[in-house]
Amino acid sequence: SREEDESGKGLRIYDPAFQNTAVAQSKITYINGDTGVLRYRGYPIEQLAEKSTYLEVAYLLIYGELPSKDQFMNFSHEVMHHTFVHFNVTQLMRNFNYDAHPMGLFISGIAAMSTFHPDANPALAGSDLFIRDDKVRNKQIFRLLGKTPTLAAMAYRHRIGRSYNPPQNNLSYTENFLYMLDRLSEENYKPNPKLSKALDVLFILHADHELNCSTAAMRHIGSSLVDPYSAISGASAALYGPLHGGANEAVLRMLEEIGSADKVPGFLEEVKQRRRKLFGFGHRVYKNYDPRAKIIRNIAYEVFDVCGRESLIDVAVELEKAALEDEYFVKRKLYPNVDFYSGLIYKAMGFPTDMFPVLFAIPRVAGWLAHWKESLEDKESKIWRPRQVYVGESVRSYIPLEHRE
Ligand code: SDX
Repeated sequence: SREEDESGKGLRIYDPAFQNTAVAQSKITYINGDTGVLRYRGYPIEQLAEKSTYLEVAYLLIYGELPSKDQFMNFSHEVMHHTFVHFNVTQLMRNFNYDAHPMGLFISGIAAMSTFHPDANPALAGSDLFIRDDKVRNKQIFRLLGKTPTLAAMAYRHRIGRSYNPPQNNLSYTENFLYMLDRLSEENYKPNPKLSKALDVLFILHADHELNCSTAAMRHIGSSLVDPYSAISGASAALYGPLHGGANEAVLRMLEEIGSADKVPGFLEEVKQRRRKLFGFGHRVYKNYDPRAKIIRNIAYEVFDVCGRESLIDVAVELEKAALEDEYFVKRKLYPNVDFYSGLIYKAMGFPTDMFPVLFAIPRVAGWLAHWKESLEDKESKIWRPRQVYVGESVRSYIPLEHRE
């Protein structure tokens, strides 16, 4: 059944099949949680992970179709020529403690972008320039896709106390990112192609996921017509949480705490007594294996071939096997999700654990932008203003302080 709430637009459609409120209609991503299906604009994630690139998938998500050769050349040129950030943002980054959480720097850097770009002025929000002009919106899309890896690399370099490396526009999207993270002494440093490819596939898998917590935040914040830089800093904050994109960091800490495969049964007992959470397992939508987790597990072994085997993989494999055979988890349809193996790959690649949510946020910028653009183009869309069910006190009179016990 579908109910139009009296506020008209916003969180307006209730569909009991979802045991949740469907707040938008979208053509971007389709998920079937029961059968473990994920498609971007109709294309199965397995095909895109095998045959596409992250920038091509970003174009597909945002503009709705796979680009022609010319469209892709132009798009990737625009993105790769918007990779530098304003000097003031560099100064902002330098003012944080060396051990500040990289996600805090990443979110601050994106929010700061809203103070530098003329098109970010909320006062313009009411004018056609901001809402209707594709050129303005495309420029914002190029800037956010181009600059977020630079901000992430700056957060990482700051974390390890090193100077920032300038972006290299002649490299691919993930090659440039890996270059900025850790340029070796030789001038013509190019990252290992196996690692940039593995990261590109991981970015494809993390690019969008329908109306998850942070994407819903993006639509919600964007519905006030604020600029996309501010909206994406808000969506990044939602992703940061350990129940969402912060789970990949929580998984690593969990695996490190378990320590060895023989400790897995004891840990699972604690989970079943609700004293611990099995991070990297369970999902709001998937009640089957997260299709992304299957692909990521294979990537893990490819990365280990280059970087050396991450010993915690043995704990993860044992944990997955034991949980999938345990009635407690089977009955609750708890399967590994996208975060279960991704942290192991990032650790093997040498990233500190607190960089993991940043590595989730970079590719998700494409999905956030796709949903932001789609909701702005919906002529029916209005500011999101959910209603509530009031369960507080009924009317009562004020009692002066001197008369209160
Ligand atoms: C992401 O939404 C998205 O699409 C998100 C995401 C994306 O791409 O944007 O896919 C990315 O956020 C993946 C999820 C990452 N989070 C984690 O790995 C954190 C651990 N997982 C959970 O906290 C939990 O599974 C959630 C938050 C993901 C889902 O929570 P729900 O919807 O409450 O889980 P549920 O309704 O399926 O729970 C059913 C039962 C409950 O037990 P009972 O009260 O019925 O006895 O399973 C239990 C839950 O308590 N349960 C868990 C559990 N997840 C659910 N028990 C132990 N460990 C867990 N991880």
